[in-house]
Amino acid sequence: MAEIIDTRTEPERAIERACAVLAEGEPVAIPTETVYGLAADATNPDAISRIYEMKGRPRFNPLISHVSDMAMAEAHVIFDPLSRRLADAFWPGPLTLILPQRPTSSVHALASAGLDTLGIRMPDGFSRRVIARFGRPLAAPSANTSGKISPTSAAHVDTDLGPRLKLILDAGSAEIGLESTIIKVEDGALRLLRPGGLDVLDIENLTGLAVSRPESAGATIEAPGMLASHYAPGAAVRLDAGDVRPGEALIRFGNTVLPGEEHAAIVLDLSPAGSLREAAANLFDYMKKADASGAATIAFAPIPSEGLGEAILDRLQRAAAPRD
Ligand code: TXA
Ligand code: MG
Repeated sequence: MAEIIDTRTEPERAIERACAVLAEGEPVAIPTETVYGLAADATNPDAISRIYEMKGRPRFNPLISHVSDMAMAEAHVIFDPLSRRLADAFWPGPLTLILPQRPTSSVHALASAGLDTLGIRMPDGFSRRVIARFGRPLAAPSANTSGKISPTSAAHVDTDLGPRLKLILDAGSAEIGLESTIIKVEDGALRLLRPGGLDVLDIENLTGLAVSRPESAGATIEAPGMLASHYAPGAAVRLDAGDVRPGEALIRFGNTVLPGEEHAAIVLDLSPAGSLREAAANLFDYMKKADASGAATIAFAPIPSEGLGEAILDRLQRAAAPRD
């Protein structure tokens, strides 16, 4: 069973234990502001292998390297001016940049799945303090079994990976609740590889540039983790529901009541006040709660597609995609 340390009551012990376990080459579950990550020393191939093993993750799917400051970032990747502007504006925060790896970088090829680029991010929250103390980048995917819903609490991590993990740092519910937005700069143009917790509009407003989208969800293997079926709960998922069928779990938005709600196994509202930020923070937890209700199908009421709604709908489409 995993040891769980509360970072709010024992921050120093949390950092010390985490660094000790990481130095042994073992993964540690750490809280970031987006989701909980399964972190390991990005320079240690055995430690990185443990991440892939624990998650059951395909090895062609590269990991994000997490850094604590710009000096650490600069040691491992080469910034173009536009990427640097994004980092200056949005780090620490829910933005991952895809950048050329520096030839002298010690991040192991297993973390980048052999690509010549690195996904790099400076996370906010307690994880950043762990990285600063550890002194090296931490490779970290979300701390869930591959293909399943990402964890936004220590309890989520414990339920899924607890039996295989040594240590979980508990900082409470993740503030953002959706994985980072992934951006790649190419010839001065911005490409969105994954919508996420940073609103694309904020990027467009800062730069004055339009961010281009992938052709269609799952069509590209550009961010190889973007496989069509992902974020899958145990139950089937029905999107854009206009009503509730008997026995379904309902996840709705903005306090909009649907016909048939009285027959629902459970009714959850992502944000009664209609805030997409609040909806993002609740999404994965509510998917898990709806799943736990035992309903065979989770019906989702329509959710607005603007702003963070784009990332929420991306996750829902993957949750609803055919599974193999
Ligand atoms: O918020 C987040 O991003 C969380 C927390 C823990 O930081 N991490 C996360 O990691 O969501 P993961 O492994 O679930 O998703 C990482 C995504 C994958 O789709 C992967 O393919 C893409 O980043 N990626 C990583 N390195 C890449 C690279 N060099 N080029 C293109 N895509 C890359
Ligand atoms: Mg993930």
